[in-house]
Amino acid sequence: MRYLILIISLLIVTVFAFAFWIMPEQLEPTNHSQSQGKALIGGDFSAIDHTGNPFTQDNLKGRYSLIYFGFTHCPDICPTSLLVMANSIDDLGDKAEQILPVFISVDPERDTQDAMAQYVSNFHPRLVGVTGTPEQIKHLAQVYKVYFSKVEQPDSAIDYLVDHSGFIFLMNPQGEYITHFPHNVAQQELTATLRGHIK
Ligand code: NI
Repeated sequence: MRYLILIISLLIVTVFAFAFWIMPEQLEPTNHSQSQGKALIGGDFSAIDHTGNPFTQDNLKGRYSLIYFGFTHCPDICPTSLLVMANSIDDLGDKAEQILPVFISVDPERDTQDAMAQYVSNFHPRLVGVTGTPEQIKHLAQVYKVYFSKVEQPDSAIDYLVDHSGFIFLMNPQGEYITHFPHNVAQQELTATLRGHIK
């Protein structure tokens, strides 16, 4: 009888833990509510940019940022999203400076500072490439609730790909989460949302 009570108690605890703790962590951030998002996405991190300078949460302050996680060997999704980001920012004309575009690598092993420098220059002159140690990148991904996982490609010259969530995050000038877009967001929609926020 004592064991039965123990087992039932454990079950109840497990169910509650799953419902209130594990479940929200696992969910993709589809909720656009500001108050919830601010608590869930973003926060302190440290990494380096493609010029070798430290890049931290402080670099997100003072203007809006668009943040995308991906990797330079990504065959199509990352380049497409980065191009849409770059074009949307250019759509803003003389207000474009108010948005900082940021590309964070989920493949720090191959995406060295030099690799990032070369890659970001293909997309936008102000695009900041961010990389770091595997630990720093793991932390960054956790802070932004971004999933990534290496997928070995044994029959390919590329060795491996990195499966990753493809959200574009919009952060405010305090470095706090405002909203996010899917990787395939239309340029017009992205531009319209940016216009709605900047002055
Ligand atoms: Ni990608």
